[in-house]
Order: sequence, then C-alpha cells, then structure tokens
Amino acid sequence: IKKIGVFTSGGDSPGMNAAVRSVVRTCAYHNIECVGIYRGYEGLMEGDFVKMDARSVRGIINKGGTILKSARSKEFRTKEGRKKAYDQLVAAGVGGLVAIGGDGTFTGAMIFNQEFGFPVMGIPGTIDNDIFGTSHTLGFDTAQNTVVEAIDKIRDTASSHNRLFFIEVMGRDVGHIALNVGIAGGAEEILIPEEDLGLDRLVESLKRSRKSGKSSSIVVVAEGDKIGKNIFELKEYVDENMEGYDVRVSVLGHMQRGGAPSCFDRVLASRMGVKAVESLLEGKSNFMVGLLNNKMELTPLDNAIKGKSKINLELLRVSDIMST
Ligand code: F6P
Repeated sequence: IKKIGVFTSGGDSPGMNAAVRSVVRTCAYHNIECVGIYRGYEGLMEGDFVKMDARSVRGIINKGGTILKSARSKEFRTKEGRKKAYDQLVAAGVGGLVAIGGDGTFTGAMIFNQEFGFPVMGIPGTIDNDIFGTSHTLGFDTAQNTVVEAIDKIRDTASSHNRLFFIEVMGRDVGHIALNVGIAGGAEEILIPEEDLGLDRLVESLKRSRKSGKSSSIVVVAEGDKIGKNIFELKEYVDENMEGYDVRVSVLGHMQRGGAPSCFDRVLASRMGVKAVESLLEGKSNFMVGLLNNKMELTPLDNAIKGKSKINLELLRVSDIMST
C-alpha cells in the first residue's frame, strides 16, 4: 500500500478529528501518502478527495465535529454506487481505507471489502458506545462529560424549585450514556432500554425518595428506553400519579454530540489511528480497531457490527444503591 484514504461517516462525534490527524500523521511517519475523503461514502463515490500531509491536520486535535464532513449515503448501499467508489479509488491510486464511524459505516466498508477485496480498517466513532470489540467508542467519554455538566446545571433549578426533572439523553438503542451519566449526575432513577422495570415501580420509587426527605429528583431517560411512553407522556403519567412535585422535561439533543474532545478521547483517537494504519500496512484488512483491557485490539468488522455491546450490570446495581 502506497496511499491510504481516510473518511468519517454517519453521525459526527468528538474525537473524529483527532483520529483523522492520527491517520494522516501515521501515514507521514511511514512515508505513505494520505488522502482525506469528504462527506463519507458520498465523497468516495464522487472522488471528492484532498491530499493530506502532516501539516494539513494542525490545530484540529481539540476540535469537535469532523473537518472531513460526514454524511449518510443511500447510493453506496447499491452495487452501482460501490462500483463508482472503487473506480475512484483505483484512479487515485489509493490502496487502503480507514473508515471512521459507527455500525452503518462498518457495514458499508465490509460489503465493499467483500465485493472488491479492497483493504479496509474501521475506527469506531460514535457517542453511543454501541459497538462490540471496544470498551469505548470515540466521543463516548466526551459526550458523557457534556451531559454530566448539563445535569449539574439542571439540578440547580431542580433543587431551587423542588422539581422533578426527566432528562432525555442520546444513545440510540442502548443505555450506555444514560447509565453512566445517571450515576455521575446523582440521578434518582435511570431508564434504559436494556432494563424495563415498568411505570409502577418508577412511581413507587419516586414516592419513596420523596418520603425519605428528598425535595427534588432527576430521572435520566435513554432515548431508546422501552418503558412504553415517550418522555412527555412519562411526565404526564407521573404528574397524574404523584403529588407534591412540579415535573419538567429536558431533552438535551444534539448539544451532546459537539464540543472539544476530552483528553481520553484525544488519546484514544491517536492510538486508534496509529493501529489502523499500521494494521493496513501489515496486510490486515476487514477489522475494527478497539480498546480492550487498555490495549489496541482488532475485531473482525462482522463481529463488531453483529456483536452486542453489553451494559455493565454492576453499574446498574451501583446506581440502585446510590439512589437509596
Ligand atoms: O448515533 C449518534 C446519535 O447521536 C444517536 O445518539 C442519535 O439517536 C442519532 O445519532 C441522531 O441522529 P441524527 O443526528 O441524524 O438526528
């Protein structure tokens, strides 16, 4: 391989820029050329490439979002779309790809590899932490810190006005963000898709904590929670079934995806970029780079996509005990 292409795809996450920087600089270190590909698979099919050298990634390690832009592509899901992308790569002399993104990105990369035998390596970039084969995806740590800061602020209002707040956090179908920020933010209850304890138990628990002397409460709700009601219906339900609380809802939304990456995410991104490029140079392909037991490990893309990233049950127990 003499030239490597790097792109970001799917939802942006803090640390993607740091990963691009690492890929580019690792290529420079090994005297390999590097091209940035704009707008994920869209730019790949259009040949929207830019030559990158060690200096073209200066000043981005601390920036949220992605300088390469991101997109979700429908056309790349078609065989014709993927053929276009392959032709662009061959014409540009690119011999390997580093794909930074989530499971949708990896699915595209894997199919592309199967069809054309093109060397690909994945770096998990998503705030959701829903990828198997890594304890942390890029952006997860930063997003959690952002949410905890928001919860701390909301708590000021909750305690000043004796209010109960339902705070919705991102995470798509998994509760990793919710569970961690719930513990770190001192939530009374945490509702996650992996555990449905039902509405009655929620109301009972809130009543109990009211009786025990708490004058305000925070309930963290994962956006993918399956309690059967959306967060606004949940508010109505609790309003109707509980006295003494002024109930409010706060949906944090996309503020959770932005901002400067944490130290953890910057270091992780730097490590992942090095591992991804060096693995390609060693002739490996169709893997995802991940963090397991503080080591960089490779997991086949297929497993990364299909495997489940499991909730840590010990955290559930800790959260129960902490809300006593
Ligand atoms: O995957 C990251 C994520 O932010 C999820 O937490 C959320 O469900 C989704 O993306 C939102 O997607 P969009 O930005 O397309 O609305």
